[in-house]
Amino acid sequence: MENLDLNRLPKHIAIIMDGNGRWAQEKGQDRLYGHFHGVQSVRNIVEAASEIGIKYLTLYAFSTENWDRPAAEVTGLMSLFVDTIAKEVPDLHKNNIKLHFIGNLSLLPDDAKAALENATLTTANNTGLELIIALSYSSRWELIQAIKNIAEKVQNGQMQPDDIQEATLEAALSTSAFPDPELMIRTSGEYRISNFLLYQLAYAELYFTETRWPDFRKKDLMEAILDFQSRERRFGKTSLQVQTND
Ligand code: IPE
Ligand code: IPE
Ligand code: MG
Repeated sequence: MENLDLNRLPKHIAIIMDGNGRWAQEKGQDRLYGHFHGVQSVRNIVEAASEIGIKYLTLYAFSTENWDRPAAEVTGLMSLFVDTIAKEVPDLHKNNIKLHFIGNLSLLPDDAKAALENATLTTANNTGLELIIALSYSSRWELIQAIKNIAEKVQNGQMQPDDIQEATLEAALSTSAFPDPELMIRTSGEYRISNFLLYQLAYAELYFTETRWPDFRKKDLMEAILDFQSRERRFGKTSLQVQTND
């Protein structure tokens, strides 16, 4: 932690929390046991991010594709979300954390929808860490929604095709209120994006670790941030240009 440069923290970190199932199976347990333990890591990482002053943290909790898992796992995950949100909201609120949920939330069971609405409303005026949970989320779904939204505006005559800029698309995404993540972390030794924030990650630094999500703790987050701080972000320019601010 003392090696971190607190003046060069990423404003927004996005995490693909992966490896719960394997973590459990390696211990001879059911996959849901892994998800259950993954909640501990969420608590620990949210606390750490909040403490060091990260402004935005996006956690990929359930993808659109995850609906295709065995029914027992999906049902188990849904009740874990409902229980966890109910249990954690008072503390999150006390810590001034503001919750957001992105994804196709209409697919969620009613009790989950109610829990999310309650969490969002309760924490709406908080000014600390903005915690964004991607739930029933896929980036391709999000992009299609955005394109439909823009197409309607064109059809209504509110704008012309030529008016469409990067900012137009960004404003139509579910992440419109947040800056792009500068650092994306994926746990469990998988090296892919799995339909997560495809547009928003255009210039993110990607960090992969073998650690399974239920073992991921504060020190692992600090290591990822340290690694981020050792990188030169060039945005298409040359190293010399970046170093001389040209
Ligand atoms: C990530 O862990 C959590 C969810 C996708 C809900 P996994 O459940 O994908 O765990 P592995 O990848 O099978 O180990
Ligand atoms: C991505 O993990 C989704 C979440 C972590 C919520 P998966 O484990 O579902 O991704 P794939 O299927 O291995 O790409
Ligand atoms: Mg996985």
